Amino acid sequence: MSEDGATGYLDAAATAPLRPEARAAMIAALDAGAANPSSVHQAGHIARATVEAARSSIADAFGARLADVVFTSGGTEANNLAVIGLALANPRGRHIVTTPIEHPSVIESCRYLERVFGFTVDIAEVDGDGLVDPASVAALTRGDTTLVTVGLANAEVGTVQDLPRIAEIARARGALVHTDAVQAAAALPVRFSDEAGAAWPGPGIDAMTIAGHKFGGPQGTGALLVRAGLRLEPLMHGGGHEGGRRSGTENVAGVAGFAAAVVAAQAHLGTRAVALMESRDALITRVLSEVPGARLTGHRDERLPGHASFVIAGVSGESMLVALDAAGLAVSSGSACAAGSDEPSPVLLALGYSPELAQTAIRFTLAQPLSTALTDRIIAVLCAETAAADRRRGAGLRPR
Ligand SMILES: Cc1ncc(COP(=O)(O)O)c(C=O)c1O
Repeated sequence: MSEDGATGYLDAAATAPLRPEARAAMIAALDAGAANPSSVHQAGHIARATVEAARSSIADAFGARLADVVFTSGGTEANNLAVIGLALANPRGRHIVTTPIEHPSVIESCRYLERVFGFTVDIAEVDGDGLVDPASVAALTRGDTTLVTVGLANAEVGTVQDLPRIAEIARARGALVHTDAVQAAAALPVRFSDEAGAAWPGPGIDAMTIAGHKFGGPQGTGALLVRAGLRLEPLMHGGGHEGGRRSGTENVAGVAGFAAAVVAAQAHLGTRAVALMESRDALITRVLSEVPGARLTGHRDERLPGHASFVIAGVSGESMLVALDAAGLAVSSGSACAAGSDEPSPVLLALGYSPELAQTAIRFTLAQPLSTALTDRIIAVLCAETAAADRRRGAGLRPR
């Protein structure tokens, strides 16, 4: 909290602040005892009931069936399970279509299939706003394509895809469709449902990834929603938990917190999205008009409600991040997912940015609307850092 009472945590896309409902659900689950949900005694039944209540809440929240929900250790594992598990169980032509802007857990899973199992991976085109070109997906998807995997919204630039169109193309060619909805599901009314017309981005989606910490639940929780009955090769082998699709004792308190966060997030999704969009748009307008060299990255309108991302010519994203942090403002330079990497973001390179400009990326992702005082503080730091970088250049010093 700052002196104006506003929280300067502006990195919700990395991890959203823990919701009180999630915290309470986790504490209640921990206090109920430490039994194993697979144990047959009373205490085991209580733990099992907690896990199944969480499954039921998550299935309801996304219009899925109970048997569609496979709990995992987070978004990364769910993406690995979707890509590797679906591809190995349904190999068809050992061919996958994806995009250059997927989360590393999707891209690296595809690379693994290429390296170890001889799959071929084709990469669809994206435009400068981060929109995947459906025509490119159509051109690449063949009669023997196993899987098309395209993220619903991009974590770095916030662009939301026309997934219904992409899924329709993939399905028409008989390919399975997976979407990484880790960012989108926490911000938009996402459904995983068979009902035609009742679901966005479905009904043509076979598997969808979600992660607890983007909803305000605990880190290390997530799920793959995957059509029950679809063949899926497990990654975790063991006692046959989660219907044989993911072995390992369930994270009882974790899934309780995850489900509570999802329910709380969905309760006010619409009003929250509108409020965040107003703040986001006000921030974007001010940054573009007041900060020299600033450019918005991602699509202007088709973007996540609380997501504002920029490149600022001549100012390294890292030094901007440090300056904002010193002013009590927590943001990301690019994406926090590629931990410790100071390489230019592959996402921005794929959007056509030069490596130099890509190094200047800075991302604000809001958990709540911004106060005017907070927006003023952001603009003041961005302007001060830009001016300092200008002075350093004027003095012949290398940009930091
Ligand atoms: C789009 C997207 N997919 C997957 C992940 C990975 O999720 P987790 O951190 O739960 O492994 C992230 C994390 O930031 C993400 O933004």
